[in-house]
Amino acid sequence: MKNNNWWRDAVIYQVYPRSFADSDGDGIGDIPGITSRLDYLHDLGVDAIWISPFYDSPLHDGGYDVTDYREVDPRLGTIADVDELIAQAHKRDIRVIMDIVPNHTSSEHEWFQEVLRSERGSAAWDRYMIRPGKGADHAEPPNNWKSVFHGGGWSRLKSPDGSPTDFWYLHLFDSTQPDLNWQNPEVRAEFRDILRFWFDRGIDGFRIDVAHGMVKEEGLPDFDYDDTEPALLGDAPHAPFWDQDGVHEIFREWRLVADEYTPPRIFCGETWVPSPERLARYQRPDELHTSFNFDYLTANWESKTLQKSIDDTIANHEIVGAPPTWVLSNHDVHRHASRLAPVDEAGDRDLHRGLRRARALTLFTMSLPGSMYIYQGEELGLPEVFDLPDEARQDPLWFRSNHTDIGRDGCRVPLPWSGTSPSYGFGPTSHSWLPQPAQWAELSVEAQQGQDGSTLEFYREALRIRKASTALGGGDLKWLDHVGDVLAFTRTSADGSSIISVLNLNNDVVHLPIEWGRTALIASSDDIAFLKTEGSGEFLAVGPETAVWLTQ
Ligand code: GLC
Repeated sequence: MKNNNWWRDAVIYQVYPRSFADSDGDGIGDIPGITSRLDYLHDLGVDAIWISPFYDSPLHDGGYDVTDYREVDPRLGTIADVDELIAQAHKRDIRVIMDIVPNHTSSEHEWFQEVLRSERGSAAWDRYMIRPGKGADHAEPPNNWKSVFHGGGWSRLKSPDGSPTDFWYLHLFDSTQPDLNWQNPEVRAEFRDILRFWFDRGIDGFRIDVAHGMVKEEGLPDFDYDDTEPALLGDAPHAPFWDQDGVHEIFREWRLVADEYTPPRIFCGETWVPSPERLARYQRPDELHTSFNFDYLTANWESKTLQKSIDDTIANHEIVGAPPTWVLSNHDVHRHASRLAPVDEAGDRDLHRGLRRARALTLFTMSLPGSMYIYQGEELGLPEVFDLPDEARQDPLWFRSNHTDIGRDGCRVPLPWSGTSPSYGFGPTSHSWLPQPAQWAELSVEAQQGQDGSTLEFYREALRIRKASTALGGGDLKWLDHVGDVLAFTRTSADGSSIISVLNLNNDVVHLPIEWGRTALIASSDDIAFLKTEGSGEFLAVGPETAVWLTQ
């Protein structure tokens, strides 16, 4: 644990705690569950874990609605459990990153409860984004902003007797997640203090929720929603609630706090911004260490888009001297094994090809310079669960869309660890807070462990090679020319060793020059062969939708 620059090329595993491992059998994953599986994560070869929120919360948005930032949800454990997790992780050389949610609190947070008990002009009101409604009786919201979770972005404040006041509060997400006012010095001081509270306990860093949304444009102007979808995601240019220059001032303050510690603590921002150029601003030397690069995640299975995203990201990060990060799945998007699957005219997904593509793109991504995030279960090749029973769904997107948007529950189904009946080793009982598909018995850790060609063994091997190689992680990237839908580059380290990484996006075999490498370190499918023919001499044949790492 000596290297202070560990985050520059780390592999970080995202734990969604309620769905990772359940130690007490209530069907909800918990902190002791994570601790009990640290050996698994160590064997997988990850450098750090990022744990989604486990604070006290009414769980209207899976814990991203926090009631007390210094308490652990009793369903998930205690502060002592967190201390033990940190100690055990560090013992195994695994860093621990927590998730901070500064854009909004839960409406059950003491601060918002104070709002409900007090009057306009009170200190409590100034901590949130509260404005008078429009129209004669103030019955219309202060502006036209929408919630990311469907519907309006404002709700009317009620007085203690339940009658409507003339005022509205902003919530870019669920109505139980009121936005904080980051112009208020008390809000700023409180969050610096929360950072210190957890840094003092030994955590190594924070992932920052909605980092691009904390400051809103002065005067809260209406937004032109012509292009609604991207605006909601946060990648629309000029949205008055996203990517405002004022957020950078906050991160400069936070960086000073992180740098008070030895070793310095690190930040990774959740930043949905319109371009890699806007993204790089968050990584200026006195701000965040890294930020999620969603431009790459949304490029999907498109060679030109992928290549452009890689080029733009690397170029913009170089200007600020920061390493890029790469991610293909998380708790907010459909798992990439399903997302990448071709869909036929009847709307059916070819999940076999989906997994094949996912393995290929993952291997290719692991060879890019910088750090990489893995979302729990992707190492098992888990697909998205689209057909959860309606009554099981919990995502606010489902409720706020009048049951038209299935939302994100399908990527949050508890992990299968072992056995042939529910909860497939998730916990000691058959309970899991979301039902697991029967086919998941075959995808469990136990079923894949030691099995040649399984997705789990494939991830382990790829991460082992990545760690051992000086050319991957750090090091240069140089594209190689090739016709057709093939992406290929050389990574070279300072000591001169090199690896060529190839992604064949075609649905056919491609032939590559043998000079690219005579040894395959690892491939995402069995479909590769070094061949010699009379006519064309020696070449390497790479099967459809397959990636490979080559060396001489
Ligand atoms: C982030 C989280 C997401 C949450 C939202 C509101 O995007 O990743 O899960 O719903 O913020 O906090």
